Amino acid sequence: MNKTFQRHTVTAALPYANGPKHLGHLAGAYLPADVYVRYLRAIGQDVVFVSGSDEHGTAIANQALREGTTPQAIIDKYHALNRDAFHQLGISFDIYHRTSEPLHHQTAQEFFLRLHETGNLIAEETEQYFDEEAGKFLADRYIMGTCPKCSNEKAYGDQCERCGTELSPTELLNPHSLLSGKAPVLRKTTNWFLPMDKLEAGIVAYLEGHPEWKSHVLGQCRSWISDGLKPRAMTRDLDWGVQVPLPEGAGKVLYVWFDAPIGYISATKQWAEDHGKDWRLYWQDAGTRLVHFIGKDNIVFHCITFPMMLMAHGGYVLPDQVPANEFMNLEGDKMSTSRQWSIEMDEYLRAFPGKEDVLRYYLLSILPESKDSEFTWKDYQARNNNELVAILGNFVNRSVVLTQKYFNGVVPAADEYTREDLLLMEEAARFPERIGAALEAFRFREALQELMNIARLGNKYLADTEPWKLMQSDEKRVRTVLNLALQLSASLSTLMEPFLPFTAERLRTMLRIGKLSWTQAGNLHHLGEGHVLDTPFLLFDKVDDDTVARQVEALHAKKSALPAEAHLPEPQKPETTFEAFNAMDLRVATIISAERVPKTDKLLKLTVDTGLDKRTVVSGIAEWFNPDTLPGTRVLILINLAPRKIKGIESNGMILLAENARGQLAMVPQLTDEMENGSVVK
Ligand code: 2FM
Ligand code: ZN
Repeated sequence: MNKTFQRHTVTAALPYANGPKHLGHLAGAYLPADVYVRYLRAIGQDVVFVSGSDEHGTAIANQALREGTTPQAIIDKYHALNRDAFHQLGISFDIYHRTSEPLHHQTAQEFFLRLHETGNLIAEETEQYFDEEAGKFLADRYIMGTCPKCSNEKAYGDQCERCGTELSPTELLNPHSLLSGKAPVLRKTTNWFLPMDKLEAGIVAYLEGHPEWKSHVLGQCRSWISDGLKPRAMTRDLDWGVQVPLPEGAGKVLYVWFDAPIGYISATKQWAEDHGKDWRLYWQDAGTRLVHFIGKDNIVFHCITFPMMLMAHGGYVLPDQVPANEFMNLEGDKMSTSRQWSIEMDEYLRAFPGKEDVLRYYLLSILPESKDSEFTWKDYQARNNNELVAILGNFVNRSVVLTQKYFNGVVPAADEYTREDLLLMEEAARFPERIGAALEAFRFREALQELMNIARLGNKYLADTEPWKLMQSDEKRVRTVLNLALQLSASLSTLMEPFLPFTAERLRTMLRIGKLSWTQAGNLHHLGEGHVLDTPFLLFDKVDDDTVARQVEALHAKKSALPAEAHLPEPQKPETTFEAFNAMDLRVATIISAERVPKTDKLLKLTVDTGLDKRTVVSGIAEWFNPDTLPGTRVLILINLAPRKIKGIESNGMILLAENARGQLAMVPQLTDEMENGSVVK
């Protein structure tokens, strides 16, 4: 390692146990974390790899409501499902814990009390919506009403999913409770706030100390901070979660984003207890490197909130790297379990038993390391057939099959080395270091490419030396060539382990060897003369066109199986008048530029030419349109809508879009060039 650490604590985001997790989640955090940890273990580092289920928060309660069951039943079901799927995919956690465990509740409560005692949690009275019939305060997601920005009648208390605006419950018009359907009332309640404003300076200095972090990670943090940090409530008026450990906190729980990251600590405690270790070393010793693997939606919680909590508590190391990934899309659309456009881990495992490494390989090859990427079944097939089968599998297969054929599966002795052989040895010796350097820099795609370069090198060596043509004329040469090809296969069996652990094991079985030391894996002297190999078998098989077609079909079928109400068009609105329609000034316009609004997933800031002027419009369409492709797009716009501020930007108008029952958006309609900007729509 370029910087020396005595030990490593590596975490992968605790996924909510509210449903099966999809391949986007896997690629976002768990798979890169696993590759990294397997590498650290291979180079002999002291590492603990923790994760587990996040079992609190409204995500769990909402799913219980949806499935008509209890939160406990939900977490029990999905904890087991996700734990098993991760295990089957080779994600080698040292522990997969649960935040419902008493040890976690106790750890989170102690943490809270410490912050409370040191004046880092401030009690404050606010007014919150209360459902008198249900006798409960309402979480933001349990309040629905009309969006003040776009008039969507089904906006939630935290966000309008139509226009993307973040809301607070009191901004909703005509709010009603999703528990009773009744209008909620405002009631006073006390909660505890983390004074993020006061702790800001420490965080700014901490982030400045990490210029090496990914630019999109730092970018998100800076944009959060640039608006000025405000105190944030760390408790909620809910009954599902970790109880607030104060007498005056009865009936309240810790905010899920307060307790979840502490779950990493509780998990480490449990692991340490199970293995006779001291958890403190892994969290409180300066020689420990703490690394959080997460998806981009978790950035601010891991780079700002949690470090702030750790600083306020004192005595903890802070995250040293947070190599967050961007999102992975699927066949042209955003991956989403609720919109039924996803491949769940357990679905894949059922459809492709024995092909766990193919998935690992494909996901790693398209990892969204610095920008969003795209999973397609065609590409999955291509990577499998053209890379795993044709490059990696082919090299190993030729080496062992030729050895079987010419030498009965016994490793032949190398004779004199030629220049070609020496070059191969020299090249091979560089790979452990090269792959390691890429992994240590969290460049997983590059590391995978380097791994494949070993197989490429081997294929080239066989193609250049052509042992299959030499058996009659120069058996000695064939012996040397196959000896080296087998040695290189042995190198591969160790160096592929972080990426393709199942294949690595199968290859080691075929070669009848154990794991080599990582640093020595590039030296081509592992297999002694006379060593007997196992019967050759293929490491990978081709994926055929039918399989791909079936998967694409299944994806679409799943989507159309969404409940019928999800496909029904919205009912007709009450009658309106010609005058009311005529009062709306609708025009043809052209988008001149488009950019994302920082800190939001859905909003774009557009500059449009209306024919009358050039103006700014903020539109909640980022999920559906790539800002780079929008300039030049002709649109319809309502230009006399009262200006309003969205995320601090004044929006002067509204772009008209068609939205289908599945929530997909499209511009309307196709306009011809004769419709100059400013043309009236009536
Ligand atoms: O986004 C999520 O799924 C959260 N449950 C992640 C929590 S990460 C950590 F803080 F535990
Ligand atoms: Zn809205």
